[in-house]
Amino acid sequence: MLQLSEVVSDSDFDELIPLLWYSYAQPRIALLPLLFPSEDESPEAQEKAIQTSKRAFLKMHHADPSGHWLKVLDTDTGKIIGGCRWHIHESDPYEKARGKPFVALTYPEGTERDFASLVLGQILNPRAERYVRPHTHLHICFVHPEHRRRGAGSMMVEWGVSKADEMGVESFLEATFFARPLYEKFGFVVVTTEEASTTIEKPNEAWKHLEQRFLPYKWHCMWRPPRGKYEEGKTELPWSN
Ligand SMILES: CC(C)(COP(=O)(O)OP(=O)(O)OC[C@H]1O[C@@H](n2cnc3c(N)ncnc32)[C@H](O)[C@@H]1OP(=O)(O)O)[C@@H](O)C(=O)NCCC(=O)NCCS
Repeated sequence: MLQLSEVVSDSDFDELIPLLWYSYAQPRIALLPLLFPSEDESPEAQEKAIQTSKRAFLKMHHADPSGHWLKVLDTDTGKIIGGCRWHIHESDPYEKARGKPFVALTYPEGTERDFASLVLGQILNPRAERYVRPHTHLHICFVHPEHRRRGAGSMMVEWGVSKADEMGVESFLEATFFARPLYEKFGFVVVTTEEASTTIEKPNEAWKHLEQRFLPYKWHCMWRPPRGKYEEGKTELPWSN
């Protein structure tokens, strides 16, 4: 049986974060390797990056009371098979961050930091302009590849849209193409489909190498109006391109 619950113990991150990396590798999502670089491709360097990300996720979790990590446990095995992070905002959360573009501080200054800031900034920076009203926002959602299509993803999405319905507010997320059908099932609609652009004047060899490694990077910006009431052609979308 699958059981959904909110994460209350830091020790769950020992299981959740490696599972997040494993799930986001199938199919490959560039977010984690781009945000938490590893020195090389060796398993040791990979493990170091995973542990660095775990510390960063825990720090963010403790610092931001709007964030809620959930886990799905398979009670037959006692193993966590999925997780997600929802944020619940009763007011505009970007008041202080507005006008401050994202900088990938996980890198020292240089080409790699510039590249990661440019790519991830194209996902993160528009949030401050678009998600201004009270809302719920799904930041991360993952299920172990061998446990997909068992309903774990649905349990996690339902948690956040139910909160939104209780509050009478809208919901947002940035989706992989792979996950779009799951979100559509809960009343999310695609507002815009976006692709990272890394065109700069005189890119150096390191920049070109990063482009080869991480591009193309595409995502859907999805929105669910209050109570999921969307009528094609009638409901006004929250922003246009
Ligand atoms: C997307 C993801 C979280 C879905 O988790 P899941 O546990 O398989 O989802 P569910 O079993 O609840 O699926 C619910 C419904 O979503 C739809 N769905 C889910 N995955 C789908 C897929 N790959 N293709 C088509 N429809 C899909 C189906 O309608 C499905 O219902 P059904 O199985 O009765 O047909 C999981 O596939 C995953 O971790 N993917 C990799 C990471 C990722 O892309 N995360 C999203 C980041 S935005």
